[in-house]
Amino acid sequence: MNLPNLKEAKKRTNAKVLYKETPTIKNHSFQNKKYFLRTYGCQMNEHDSEQIEAILVNLGMSPCDELTDADVIVLNTCAIRENAHDKVFGYLGRIKHLKKERPEVLVAIGGCMSQEENVVNELIKRHPYVNIVFGTHNIHELANYLQNALENKQEVEVFSEEGCVYEHVSYKRASNITAWVNIIYGCDKFCTYCIVPYTRGKERSRKLEEVVQEVLSLKEQGYQEVTLLGQNVNAYGHDLEEGYEFSDLLEAVAKTNIPRIRFVTSHPWNFTDKMIEVIAQYENIMPYIHLPLQSGSDRILKLMGRRYTKEEYLALYKKMKERIPNVAITTDIIVGFPGETEEDFLDTLEVVDACQFDGAYTFIFSPREGTPAAKMVDSTPLEEKEERLHRLNEKINSYSKMHNERLVGKVVPVLLLGPSEKDKDFLYGYTDTMKLVNVKAPTSDIGKIIDVLITDAKSFSLDGQKKESITM
Ligand code: 5AD
Ligand code: SF4
Repeated sequence: MNLPNLKEAKKRTNAKVLYKETPTIKNHSFQNKKYFLRTYGCQMNEHDSEQIEAILVNLGMSPCDELTDADVIVLNTCAIRENAHDKVFGYLGRIKHLKKERPEVLVAIGGCMSQEENVVNELIKRHPYVNIVFGTHNIHELANYLQNALENKQEVEVFSEEGCVYEHVSYKRASNITAWVNIIYGCDKFCTYCIVPYTRGKERSRKLEEVVQEVLSLKEQGYQEVTLLGQNVNAYGHDLEEGYEFSDLLEAVAKTNIPRIRFVTSHPWNFTDKMIEVIAQYENIMPYIHLPLQSGSDRILKLMGRRYTKEEYLALYKKMKERIPNVAITTDIIVGFPGETEEDFLDTLEVVDACQFDGAYTFIFSPREGTPAAKMVDSTPLEEKEERLHRLNEKINSYSKMHNERLVGKVVPVLLLGPSEKDKDFLYGYTDTMKLVNVKAPTSDIGKIIDVLITDAKSFSLDGQKKESITM
């Protein structure tokens, strides 16, 4: 048993990052079994789940949609806010029930929650029917853990400190049109509210050549779009001997000529002019930046440990808008950080008005055990925080709608991804600026970038018509 330890996870040693080959799976006995995988959280977790699925499929298993049909259940969990925890523990209730009827079903809990001491202690004490707990640093060992669990051993293996980057990982990708590509793992920023630097470890960049190779191979397979992934993509390269930075990587990926390149997430702190130039220069780098603001109050930004002021954020925002034609910018905002006053909140609203974001993810502060902000005095009642969130969302939604309405009557490029959920006659896709569009087009257009005339705008989506089929 190897338990997580947040103090260990906080350490940033100078230990050299090891670049390793992903171990291959040896003969295990899961042929023709069914697995049920549920993923919580961000794109990083979604992409990790593609690795988990590849491992399960390589063992001879196939996916099932119903929990009750599964021989193996894997939950890939998120730790970012308390409600993510609640969802997982709620779901475990159903699994406990199932295990009473079918004790032979194997249950594995992975992801960010497994990196937390309190969670793992609770799993061991209150959920002994869970067979395997594995962390974010040892996904590649899942096949071995499953084998051991078959032999009735409970496996709890979580590493708190990790300096490895595994290459040539197999993924069962969810799409054959768009793909995620990791460029940097971990985070060293330690914003005071955030659990990620503890659950994901220190910043480790992949080698530029490996990233380019992966993108080239995806392009050869017909992929139209890659999204470069990192908790903070700007930090890319600082740990590499070659001295690359994110702009070098972006440029190298742009030169592969894959049709569309995106990247998430960017920190406003070290977003260089060179990055802005490269984004502006290459047509296949999409004009879309997710730039978390978190708060518009200098006092709160300082308490959050964000390393920029309101003025610096606004100056960067302005530069992006001026230099990158047609750029769309979205953001993340937290309300109700400990000690946030009405005045601080009004500063946030002021920045939202100044920026008129294309969209935003908004959250109420959630204390995460082990982070500095969880110990700060927080006297604002929840109702007041909810009221702030409501006011913020009203503003955010009105700006989203405004941006969408501006597109009505315009022709925009849309990458079509599949049948629309709302209407089978429509396909859905995304504009270069990452706006969701429902388009009347034949299914043979799935996987293509087509010109679409925008006919209608809602707060969160657009309707459009394929340009060739437009009759004037
Ligand atoms: N409480 C609320 N929101 C949080 N986020 C990160 N940590 C917390 C927390 N403790 C938000 C931030 C981040 C996004 C992914 O989640 O806005 O950018
Ligand atoms: Fe992703 Fe953060 Fe959730 Fe981990 S805690 S899954 S990194 S959102």
